[in-house]
Amino acid sequence: MARKIIIDTDPGQDDAVAILLALSSPEALEVLGITAVAGNVPLALTLKNARIICELAGKPDTKVFSGCDCPMARSLVTAEYVHGKTGLDGPVLPDPVMPVQDQHAVDFIIETLRTEPSGTVTLCPLGPLTNIATAFDRAPDIAERVQEIVLMGGAYFEVGNVTPTAEFNIYVDPQAADIVFKSGAPIAVMPLDVTHKALVTKPRNDAFRALPGPVGHAVAEMTDFFERFDREKYGSEGAPLHDPTVIAYLLQPELFKGRHINVEIETTSELTMGMTVADWWGVTDRTPNATFMRDLDADGFFTLLTDRIARL
Ligand code: RIB
Ligand code: CA
Repeated sequence: MARKIIIDTDPGQDDAVAILLALSSPEALEVLGITAVAGNVPLALTLKNARIICELAGKPDTKVFSGCDCPMARSLVTAEYVHGKTGLDGPVLPDPVMPVQDQHAVDFIIETLRTEPSGTVTLCPLGPLTNIATAFDRAPDIAERVQEIVLMGGAYFEVGNVTPTAEFNIYVDPQAADIVFKSGAPIAVMPLDVTHKALVTKPRNDAFRALPGPVGHAVAEMTDFFERFDREKYGSEGAPLHDPTVIAYLLQPELFKGRHINVEIETTSELTMGMTVADWWGVTDRTPNATFMRDLDADGFFTLLTDRIARL
């Protein structure tokens, strides 16, 4: 029985690879819908990019929904400096022809959680948590019906990538993150601590490029473009594939290691706004609310990713 998921996303090259990985594995994952949110680039572009990727995957029947165009309480911060002005710079891909669903993403999330049997739908946020938190805020009854939230966001040992203390997805909408982390839903977190171990080194990128068909080549072009920022900033040997770790966790959780700890979100101090305050060492009596990942079998991750992308 395939696991039912909703992917909430702000594509972004790494979001795109995550969506491709999910759509390449229908025996394991049933993508009920893809909900676009403002983040890496404004909503109009994340919505367009989500459809570009569905068509690249050969899955134009995927339901794509338009979501929130700005954070709950702050103005939007975008990341064209990382993802390029289109949010999907790198490969040259055709404009999408598949439709956008009429229903708003937040209403889709609420309706799906209320109509599917309780505990059978997993939410996979890959960007700012605005859509998810708005749904929880508008329909408090749905949080307990969520099977699991598996999200990319936050950082502890790795500290911030957009400020000295905050990771981008959480920083863009800290109030939304606070609502999600206090929702009581089971949460698995893929922070920078683990995603910075998923680097697209040259051999790994060459493996994408060597795949038959257009998808592998497009992925290689995306990660070639996307690595500039991290290479300059961290001197890393390639792009950290942040968002695909969420989908890989659903497919092969044994690739990951982490701890079930308390994680709270800074929402008042501008100095540390959006920091995920992770009690990794258990120095407080705060209730654990999230499984916070720190280790990854990177070779196993890239073998999974390459094998699955090859299917498209
Ligand atoms: O900080 C990395 C995260 O921010 C990734 O999800 C990337 O796509 C951007 O949204
Ligand atoms: Ca993202």
